[in-house]
Amino acid sequence: MELIIRPTSADVAVTAADVLAEHVRRGATLGLATGSTPVATYQELIRRYDAGELSFALCRAFLLDEYVGLPRDHEQSYYRTIRREFTEHIDIPDARVQSPDGTDPNPTAAADRYETAIVEAGGIDIQLLGVGTNGHIGFNEPGSSLASHTRLKTLHPQTVADNARFFDSADEVPIHVLTQGLGTIRNARHLLLLATGEGKADAVRRLVEGPVAAFCPASVLQLHEFATVIVDEAAASDLQYKEYYRFAETKKPQWQGWGGWNLA
Ligand code: GLP
Repeated sequence: MELIIRPTSADVAVTAADVLAEHVRRGATLGLATGSTPVATYQELIRRYDAGELSFALCRAFLLDEYVGLPRDHEQSYYRTIRREFTEHIDIPDARVQSPDGTDPNPTAAADRYETAIVEAGGIDIQLLGVGTNGHIGFNEPGSSLASHTRLKTLHPQTVADNARFFDSADEVPIHVLTQGLGTIRNARHLLLLATGEGKADAVRRLVEGPVAAFCPASVLQLHEFATVIVDEAAASDLQYKEYYRFAETKKPQWQGWGGWNLA
């Protein structure tokens, strides 16, 4: 795992955009995440698109997850959120931005269709991830199988509480979701997890330095041969090996194409 510590959340966004831009230039299939953490990264990518530095015309995108039961045009559906925050502002064709269908009366069939669509597209080149305060990625709550695929899940009350800020009240947050599984996420060729703020420090410590365990779904990154984790100082504050990660970054061998990842 490559661990990069940046001073602020704004710096995290710039470094994350650098990593993503390398994939975008190759016309990659992008795995996109919602939540507040990646928003600054999306803004940085939009800025580069506006400046004529980057085109997404050859890319396609798959979302990580979706609420069950929210109409697609609901402002908090992830279908709408990713368009509002990111893809409406760049040149990726809208039909090439896919997400699980949370409106299907048969969520299990919708989940299976989504998993198949990802495979048929040739898989995901780079999967962007945030992390929940309880260590979830996508909507894979603690206890999720490390081998799971896209499926129906019930949210933990903590996740409902965390996400209530986007709704008028906690009662409006759907408790059922469709999410890529941890096995689906592991199939992506490159994982890029971002975490900012002190509230994520415990989750970051557990995912980077804790045991691989279904109880901390983000720890599945330890099983991936090409995972990059970018955090700000606040989110890094509980890491035991913080100084080593900093040292290793300053000593990155320059001959590696991406700037020194994948030394694990
Ligand atoms: C939601 C999303 C996750 C996201 C998490 C953290 O549960 N399904 O993909 O990582 O929230 O969100 P935030 O970045 O707002 O802290």
